[in-house]
Amino acid sequence: MPKRYLPNIRDQYEAYPFPKRDPEQERSRVIASELEMLGKINHFGFAGRQSFGPGFRALVAGGGTGDSAIFLAEQLRKRGGRVTYLDLSRTSMETAQARAAVRNLANIEWVHGSILDLPEMGLAPFDYINCAGVLHHLADPDEGLRCLAAVVKEDGCLGLMVYGRLGRIDIYATQELMRHLTAGEPSLAERVALAKEVLTRLPPNNILMRGRDRKATLDLLLDDEPNLVDALLHEQDRAYNVAEIYTWLDQAGLKLVEFSTYQGLGGVCRLEYDPALYLEGLPVLERVRKLPLPIQQTIAESINGSMGLHGFYAAKRAATIARLDDPAMVPNFLTTHAIEVCRKLAAAGPEGIAVTLRFEVKYTFRPHPATQAFLTLIDGQSDMAAILSRLAAMPAVAAQGLDRAALMAKLVKDFDILAALQLVVLRHRDAPPIGTIVKSYA
Ligand SMILES: C[S@@+](CC[C@H](N)C(=O)[O-])C[C@H]1O[C@@H](n2cnc3c(N)ncnc32)[C@H](O)[C@@H]1O
Repeated sequence: MPKRYLPNIRDQYEAYPFPKRDPEQERSRVIASELEMLGKINHFGFAGRQSFGPGFRALVAGGGTGDSAIFLAEQLRKRGGRVTYLDLSRTSMETAQARAAVRNLANIEWVHGSILDLPEMGLAPFDYINCAGVLHHLADPDEGLRCLAAVVKEDGCLGLMVYGRLGRIDIYATQELMRHLTAGEPSLAERVALAKEVLTRLPPNNILMRGRDRKATLDLLLDDEPNLVDALLHEQDRAYNVAEIYTWLDQAGLKLVEFSTYQGLGGVCRLEYDPALYLEGLPVLERVRKLPLPIQQTIAESINGSMGLHGFYAAKRAATIARLDDPAMVPNFLTTHAIEVCRKLAAAGPEGIAVTLRFEVKYTFRPHPATQAFLTLIDGQSDMAAILSRLAAMPAVAAQGLDRAALMAKLVKDFDILAALQLVVLRHRDAPPIGTIVKSYA
């Protein structure tokens, strides 16, 4: 039983488990939660060396209705790793359990409890902790993060998501409005009913409606009460900008490994954290490039203006990302969608390929000819030692006249973009293959 928690927050998620999920849908699809793709966790958090075997333990803290726990357990079931699900809301846990039952998943341990009690619960230590959309709902998110840091292994990794302040200005304006209007309502259900009435009256120039498809916006809120409550009626909700995330991690003894592409509701692509996406070709970019990385990323966030959430990996130690210049690394396509995109990238002319990010922002990726040849050699089995030998002998690469170091520099530069776009990740040749996730993005 949870001991330390906010009773109003528990009541909210007991009455409105989030996100809304129907266990029957487990028969037809799996939700691939972005941070939990094992190929990504391995690449970013374990330098490609994790086997996810019988000793591997993952914690999903604030697991809600189960997306991350189910997806992790599904991927781990044949490898032997286990998942611990923890949440304050018993009704949320029941939905997650019903989903696991439909899937016959037996590798999840279910704990009704609070993150703040974790250090005393005797469940630790964990290799990987997911905590997405939870810590910003604690009275003291600093303490919440320290509790997670206390139960992750020294060589473990965390996948976290917190709200982005700038990208949620419209949400906070609407929360304030709803606080005024629903102040006298005795129950959350009555506040929900009133909020629905008000939402349908919001004019097109209202901050929540501006620039959005009105019908789609209203549908997401009116037809999905847990979403409406979570977004607009929350009583405990804060957000972070990039610089604050670095400070927050630091106070818990953690380091930011890398921001992650996070394509869920309001998702963000990692490329959006790079000021070059907006300032390429301007002399000011040279000056920005000399600033510390967190400041560069904060500038990118400010220019972007719409990052409503930040998904990222964190760890206690540095250098957890797999490196392409390690000859023992085996490149893998992360998803079936990635295979398609890489096929097009490999065949692209000098104009490259335009990738569409949120709000129809176009990013043009012009891979170097050596990268294009590299993409054709990825088979999920060959390591970089083998791939480099074959690459050097390919006419398109030989024509570039690059020595080994120059060739690797070109590949490394492009590989960072391939990883940011969730196309290719690395595993060490001694770690078992992970396979390609069947996933397509519209
Ligand atoms: C917005 S939901 C996110 C659910 C899930 N992580 C996801 O991404 O789908 C927040 C969840 O955190 C849980 N929660 C809030 N405070 C908590 C605490 N102190 N300990 C454990 N769970 C908590 C809530 O019950 C709720 O299920």
